Amino acid sequence: MPRRAAGPSTLAIHGDAAARAVHDPVAPPIVQSSTFISAPGSADEVLYTRYGNNPNQQRVAERLARLEGAEAAIFVASGMGATALAHLAVLNPGDHLLSSEWIYGGTRRLFTEEFRRFGIEVSFADPDRRREWRSKLRKTTRAIFVETPTNPLMRVLDLDWLGVLAEGEGIALLVDSTFATPINFRPLAHGADIVIHSATKYLNGHSDVIAGAVAGAATVVEEVRERMKLWGQALDPHAAWLIERGLKTLAVRMERHNRTGLAVATWLEAQPKVRRVHYPGLPSHPDHALAARLLDGGGGMVGLELAGGARAAERCLRALRLVAHAPSLGGVESLVSEPRFTSHAALSPEERAAAGIPDGFLRLSLGLEDADDLMDDLARGLAAA
Ligand SMILES: Cc1ncc(COP(=O)(O)O)c(C=O)c1O
Repeated sequence: MPRRAAGPSTLAIHGDAAARAVHDPVAPPIVQSSTFISAPGSADEVLYTRYGNNPNQQRVAERLARLEGAEAAIFVASGMGATALAHLAVLNPGDHLLSSEWIYGGTRRLFTEEFRRFGIEVSFADPDRRREWRSKLRKTTRAIFVETPTNPLMRVLDLDWLGVLAEGEGIALLVDSTFATPINFRPLAHGADIVIHSATKYLNGHSDVIAGAVAGAATVVEEVRERMKLWGQALDPHAAWLIERGLKTLAVRMERHNRTGLAVATWLEAQPKVRRVHYPGLPSHPDHALAARLLDGGGGMVGLELAGGARAAERCLRALRLVAHAPSLGGVESLVSEPRFTSHAALSPEERAAAGIPDGFLRLSLGLEDADDLMDDLARGLAAA
């Protein structure tokens, strides 16, 4: 029989199924140990959980590497930790980073406040203006960073184009793929060198862990590991175990997020009190054609503008009974937040409006509840708006 690569559900559940032996536990144990016994007089690798070589840390990293089609992967203590360490692995003082303007607010602050303290120059480009990317490259540019799909407008970036640009310049392309997960998009197959995740979101999927991940070439992941050891960013074994458990259902969860996302976005677009819905699966979305080419699903994130603005949004939020008002995303339970108080709080109202996020903008993370129940709840919210 011809050998066919295993699909994502099988990879996430089994990793390398051939490696298992009789009497192995079907569910892995949690190795809740900070340190491991080593042989006296031996120069063999020292096992220590801060080094990222605890069995739970290694198992979950191996699963993500397979899912992303990467040589290697590593999990760290948060998504912010993953973003910071991935950049520190490829940038040095005096280097320049060119970032997309459309990024998570915390990442923006990391670049503008922290990286600049370390002598790493950062500038920002508008993804809609291709010429800007070329004109903002410097002799010292060593990396490009983008997020796709973006938060909260769900814009989809043409990674193939950016991949060619980065390769032509000999610089690294880093992609935060938190919203897509490897089920909907695999950046390394489109020219990215390094994939970053907030594993707090879909990878774990149950709103009970803070974690991050980096996937890419083994040499880059080793650099991240060295930085992780020294900056103390290792993931706790129990959190690693929870993420491995979460990953086993990633493919089925994303299938459902994709279905519910499209159904709810389509329904919302037909509601009279809704001014605009941002969802890449809708023909009205500016990147609909690109999303159809690049993504295997639109995901569970929906941006929503109400006709009545900020006051209407607040009335809507107060009336909801099922969708919880909380930051974060990607869990089994539906959440809603206002970017002006969370991810984009650092921007002024004018800056947010210019970025297409007027006050009253709602960001929905649709969970795995029945879509009809979510629409009933949102109808209650809209009636109050
Ligand atoms: C796209 C994206 N990247 C990174 C992060 C940071 O992740 P964490 O909260 O796990 O540090 C977030 C958090 O909301 C995010 O939305």
